[in-house]
Amino acid sequence: MAAPPLKLVVVGHVDHGKSTLIGRLLHEAGALPSGKVEELQRLSERRGVPLEWSFTLDSLQAERDQAVTIDTTRFWLTLGGRDLVIIDAPGHREFLANMVSGATGADAAVLVIDAAEGLQDQTRRHAYLLRLLGLEQIAVVVNKLDLVDFAEARFRALEQEARDFLAELGLEPRIVLPLSARHGDNLARASANLAWHEGPTLVEALIEFGAAAPAEEAPLRLPIQDIYRQEDQRILVGRIESGRLAQGDTLLFSPSNKLARVKSLEGWPGPPPESAGAGRSIGLTLDRPLFLERGELASHVENAPMLANRFGASLFWLGVEPMVEEREYRLRLGTAEALVTVERIERVIDTDSLAPLAADEVQRDQIAEVVLRSPAQLALDDHARLPRSGRFVLRDKGITVGGGLVLLRGVADQRRAATGRADNLTLVSHKVTQDARAARFGHKGGVMWLTGLSGAGKSTLAMAVEQHLFRKGYAVYVLDGDNVRSGLNANLGFSPEDRVENIRRVGEVAALFADAGFLCITAFISPYRADRARARAATPPGRFHEVYVSADLAICEARDPKGLYRRARAGEIGEFTGISAPYEPPLAPSLVVDTARQPVEACIEQILGYVAQHFATESGAA
Ligand code: ADX
Repeated sequence: MAAPPLKLVVVGHVDHGKSTLIGRLLHEAGALPSGKVEELQRLSERRGVPLEWSFTLDSLQAERDQAVTIDTTRFWLTLGGRDLVIIDAPGHREFLANMVSGATGADAAVLVIDAAEGLQDQTRRHAYLLRLLGLEQIAVVVNKLDLVDFAEARFRALEQEARDFLAELGLEPRIVLPLSARHGDNLARASANLAWHEGPTLVEALIEFGAAAPAEEAPLRLPIQDIYRQEDQRILVGRIESGRLAQGDTLLFSPSNKLARVKSLEGWPGPPPESAGAGRSIGLTLDRPLFLERGELASHVENAPMLANRFGASLFWLGVEPMVEEREYRLRLGTAEALVTVERIERVIDTDSLAPLAADEVQRDQIAEVVLRSPAQLALDDHARLPRSGRFVLRDKGITVGGGLVLLRGVADQRRAATGRADNLTLVSHKVTQDARAARFGHKGGVMWLTGLSGAGKSTLAMAVEQHLFRKGYAVYVLDGDNVRSGLNANLGFSPEDRVENIRRVGEVAALFADAGFLCITAFISPYRADRARARAATPPGRFHEVYVSADLAICEARDPKGLYRRARAGEIGEFTGISAPYEPPLAPSLVVDTARQPVEACIEQILGYVAQHFATESGAA
């Protein structure tokens, strides 16, 4: 079987010879329409200027643009027996948007550098993009060597500079080549002008590049594009991005978290296949009627995507307006769409020096690491693990304003907590009512949920408040992190998933206390917002009060009551909240207790005041 065509992007600073290179490649491959070159030759002669290969591209593009509205142009050519597809776009911006969104689907890249001008802004930005896209097959071309008299020293200096810059990005070019695209030196034929160059021509180098292997070995990912109804059947359609799927497989749909078996695969045209792999567009029917929508991501149960509503991202910003914190954008991830808010801009990276900049907004053409959150759970894959599905685009008012990679370090999978396993349950009702309990205890039942960093003062406040309230006659009890973790949750550690389970259980226990009529005070870091939201949902409406025990990291670290921060800094404790694991502060807490700025007594009074106000029964406070 012939090798699949190699999909190639050509990138580089404007005017460094991208179009000339493509035009000349097309010419060498005999891929230009007949008469085109002659026509341009005549035109150039009449104007008394040398033939510009880039004109061929412009005129080809102009012709195509009239036919259809396109945002990328693909040129098909065969060179040295190898089929190539060169992906180009009419404008720099559109091209970047397409690169970022992965629409280009390139296997390899040629990075063009002008021998006279050297590395420029866009050279560096484009190199960063190549890393962002995970493109590993890179040929660096030092072009226009005719402008520097084919000087080897100039080439070597630029080669070193390019290699050093790429190495800083973790990229290693397959080859760095001297070239003059306009005259065709070392493009398809070796050139006497470059007699000192011992390596291959560009075409020879490209022939060696492989098309990216279809990701059949990777976990199954099938983003659902559409659902067709045919008589009483529903056919789900989509393109398998990675992995394989077969008739009879159990599929897990995310984020809905529903399961079903594949009844049949529908391939068209032709008879239904029994299985299908990455790259294939398919239709399938399920063994049970599930209500699913476009945007669901099908996987197997093992190796499923993560469910989370807050995640990190490394992104490239294309928007005219800068990206700012707390602004909403529309996320496109596979076939899923959701609104996301920029929670935090962690760092902006200067593409020139790759140094982090102190900035609270991201300007056009800048790169940034950010935290995004969405009101809904999303099916997420880390880009490092699954490059195709770990890539997204942000849109604003219908325009692509940025694109990036999903980073899931420190993100907790919410799936286990979202999965209800028990069937066939019949809930029984208590004969003792909430009112009767409140009347007995003299106050309402409920949860005071204290959240904050380790060392913020949660346990100290909780125990003091418990003592005060107990003396006043309250039915009150504290659930404390270290205590519960030595019993009920002794089988849980501090991985994101274990913390989710820790808080899930505590949320349920606290809800039981509240149901029993108690005032339950909890003192857990509970670093994830989604977990606290779940704990709230476990408690009857209006009975859950989130208290943010706030003290910034520097203060908690200075206090270090258990000596854990010191050990975490020394690398003895991994995944320590605030140091190497995230903390998501509440967005709308019922009460904020600032232990950094107030003495303990004032904080206790503040909480007692809040309790008196919110836990009083209708007939009067306890
Ligand atoms: S939570 O993140 O799952 O809510 P929890 O409140 O139960 O944490 O437990 C936090 C306590 O465990 C801390 O006060 C500290 O004493 C201890 N601890 C031990 N290892 C860690 C860690 N890696 N991160 C945070 N706390 C830790």
